[in-house]
Amino acid sequence: MHRIVEATAPGKVILFGEHAVVYGRPAIAAPVVQLRARAAIETTADTDVLLSAPDLDLRGRLREAAPEDPLAAALRLSRDRLQLPELRGFALTVTSDIPIAGGLGSGAAISVAIIRALIDYFELAAKTSREQISNLAYEVERLHHGTPSGIDNTVVAYEQMVFFQRQEPHNLIEVFSPPRPLRLIIADTGMRSATKDVVGDVRRQWSAAPDRFEPIFEACGCIAAAGREAIAAGDWSGVGRLMDENHDWLIRMTVSNARLDHLVQAARRAGALGAKLSGAGRGGNMIALVEPRTETAVREALLAAGAVRVLVSDVG
Ligand code: PMV
Repeated sequence: MHRIVEATAPGKVILFGEHAVVYGRPAIAAPVVQLRARAAIETTADTDVLLSAPDLDLRGRLREAAPEDPLAAALRLSRDRLQLPELRGFALTVTSDIPIAGGLGSGAAISVAIIRALIDYFELAAKTSREQISNLAYEVERLHHGTPSGIDNTVVAYEQMVFFQRQEPHNLIEVFSPPRPLRLIIADTGMRSATKDVVGDVRRQWSAAPDRFEPIFEACGCIAAAGREAIAAGDWSGVGRLMDENHDWLIRMTVSNARLDHLVQAARRAGALGAKLSGAGRGGNMIALVEPRTETAVREALLAAGAVRVLVSDVG
């Protein structure tokens, strides 16, 4: 039977606690629903699976794909974990409007979109939980970047604001909502930065000087815990102040750079309640918390300061 299914998954921002979350501290992330990755599966007469991802410049066949090919890895792991029949006779096409290596969770979104499309195609939706989808996406993430905390796949698979802490035997995952959405401006530095490299470099620095890095991670964890209270109370000035503080700790962690700092300062000067880098850093995106009356000024200030793309998103 000829079938076509399509599934999507959102991008994400980290409101508090990136990097420290890899070291067991809590963090808060929220989905960005306007930015999405899409996976379409269409039946073909081919005996293999045809893979295509124009944005990643990928095209090929599943049987010939290398283990680290992100599409093939998501397909193979899903086949094994969801006990799918032999993969053949369909084409998988992946597209995304989430910039790659931009700190907005593009990798997790692509994995979750593929997993969701497979679940639809093989009619397993009733039997598969979002936790299973998240865990599968985590396994794919591990292939690409070694020691992911698990926050990206969680927020992308749950599509809700999440307070997350990596811990054994199960991660703490608390989905929560603010009393009203937070209005964020997400601005792209235009510099791409691979999460794997930045996370690896922070790990090297932490191993060489744990006494310097542990207090930084600890401070970020406390900020995330306080951030959760401030969000739940609708205290936007408090949330903004905590974002500013978190950015200062990220500077000390060496993951900011001149371009990110410049955008953060421009947003603050134009009236944002707070601003920080979001994601791995050293490029990618920053976020600014705004109110309706400051939104236009902050948007314009970010563009004037050199942001290559600016997006307004209500999260929560
Ligand atoms: O840059 P992104 O969108 O992949 O976010 C990475 C978040 C980190 O905390 C830096 C890494 C992680 O695995 O949590």
